[in-house]
Amino acid sequence: MVMADDSAEAESAGHLWMEGKTLVHLQADQKRPTHMPRGPAKRTGPGFLNPAMAPARTRSVLLLADALEHDWLVKPGHDLRALDALCATGVRVRRWRNEVQDEHQQRLRISANDLDEAALERLKATHERYPPKTTVNHALEDDRYERLPSGTMENGIFVMQNDARISLMEAAYQWVDLDPFGSPVNFLDAAVQGLSRIAFLEVTATDTAALTGSSASSQQRRYGAKGIVDSYAHDDAVRVLLGLIATTAARHDRFIEPVLSLFDGHHVRVSVKVRRSRDEASDVLSSMGWRVREHDGTYRFVRHPDAEHLERASGPMWIGPLWDAEIAGRMTEERALMTCFPSEETLDAYRAAGLEWSEADTEYAQRELRRSVRYIAEAADLMSRDHSLYHMDDLPNMAGTGQAPKMEALFEAIKAAGHAAARLPDIDPFFITDAPHDVVMSTTRAMLKHSTE
Ligand SMILES: C[S@@+](CC[C@H](N)C(=O)[O-])C[C@H]1O[C@@H](n2cnc3c(N)ncnc32)[C@H](O)[C@@H]1O
Repeated sequence: MVMADDSAEAESAGHLWMEGKTLVHLQADQKRPTHMPRGPAKRTGPGFLNPAMAPARTRSVLLLADALEHDWLVKPGHDLRALDALCATGVRVRRWRNEVQDEHQQRLRISANDLDEAALERLKATHERYPPKTTVNHALEDDRYERLPSGTMENGIFVMQNDARISLMEAAYQWVDLDPFGSPVNFLDAAVQGLSRIAFLEVTATDTAALTGSSASSQQRRYGAKGIVDSYAHDDAVRVLLGLIATTAARHDRFIEPVLSLFDGHHVRVSVKVRRSRDEASDVLSSMGWRVREHDGTYRFVRHPDAEHLERASGPMWIGPLWDAEIAGRMTEERALMTCFPSEETLDAYRAAGLEWSEADTEYAQRELRRSVRYIAEAADLMSRDHSLYHMDDLPNMAGTGQAPKMEALFEAIKAAGHAAARLPDIDPFFITDAPHDVVMSTTRAMLKHSTE
C-alpha cells in the first residue's frame, strides 16, 4: 500500500510533455526538453526520456504508418506484429499506438519489452493515464507463440519484462525495433532469427566512435571493419552497420533491402526490409566492399582493395543502395506534420489534462517535426541508386577555388547540366549527385568565376 502511494506520488510529481502528438510524463528531475536537442543525452535513470531521439521516433511512426497504408510489409487487411525489444518507458510504442492513422490501428499488434521494471511501470502508468485515441483490445495471437510469454496487455500494448534476446525469439515479429544503449551487436542474431519471413528491422547504434573508426579497436572487434576518419566517416558508419546487419541476415538465410539509413548526429539509425531467401542471402557479398579514397579527394567502391590501396581504404561495408526511393520519397514535411502533430481540439484536451503548451511550443514542435524528415524526400531517388557523395567543405580544395558556392545554387547548376543533386540529411553539409566528378568540378569553378567577375 505504501509502495502504491509512493509510486502514485512519484508519478504525479513529474510533469507533462508532448512528443509528436503523444503525452509523455517526465520525472520531476528531468527538465522540460528544449526543442530539437542535439547530442547524446545524459542518462539519468530508468524513467528518463531522451528527447534527442524524438526525430528517430517520428520517422519510425511515419514508416510504420506508410507500411500499413501502402501494404508493403503485410497483405492488405492483415495484421502487423511489431515489437520494440528495448522499449524503456515506451514512448515509441505509445507513439505507434497513438499516431498511426486510426483506420490501421486494429491491424497493429504492438509488443513492448525491457528488462527494467521501473521503466515498464512508467510505461504502464502513463499509458493508462493518457490512453491512445483509439482503443485496441487484442488478445495475444496464441498460435504465434511456442509458449505464451508472460506479460500484461495494457490497452493495446503487450508489455513484457525479459532479456530482449528472449522476447525477440518468442514470436515471428514483422516489425522489430532495436534501440539499445551503445552497440546493437549483441542483439542482432536474435533479432534476425526471430523475424517473420518478410519483415522490417530498425536498428539504432549510438557507438559512433566504433562505427566511424575513430575508436579503431572497437570498430574491429564489434564490426570487423577498419575506418578512416575523414569526410566520408558518417557515410562509412552507416554502411558498416548495414554491412553487419546484411551478413548477420545472410547467416540466417535472409537478405536485406535498406529503406532509410541515416547518420543522425550522435547515432546511426538504419531501417531495412529483411526477407528469407537462400539464393539472395548467398549473394550478400556482391553488396559488400570497401571505399578507396582517390588522390583528388573522391572515392570509389571496390569489392576487395589491392594491397597498395589498403591504407586509403575503409571497410568492409555495405556498398549497395541505402534507401528505398518510393518509401523515403513519401517522407515529406507535410506528412510528418499531418501524422504527428495534434489538432487544436486534441491540444485543448491535452491542456485540460495538465499540459502546459504555448503558441511558441507549437511553433517549435512543428519546426522539429519538419526537421526530423528535412531533405529526405528530395534525396530519396539518388540515395536508392549509385551516386557520389561530397562534403561542401571539401569542394574549395577539390576544385581549387578557395571557396564553395551556395549549395542550392550548385544544385540548380548541376541540374541544368542534366544531372540530379540533393542535400543529404546529416548534421554536416553533404550533397549527393549522379553528375560525373569533372562536371561537379567544372560547375563549381564556373559558378565561382561568375560570382567574382
Ligand atoms: C536507449 S533505451 C531504449 C529507448 C526506447 N526505445 C525509446 O525510444 O524511448 C535502452 C533500453 O534497453 C534496456 N536494456 C538493456 N539491455 C537489455 C536487455 N538485455 N534486455 C532487455 N532490455 C534491455 C534498458 O533497460 C533501456 O531501457
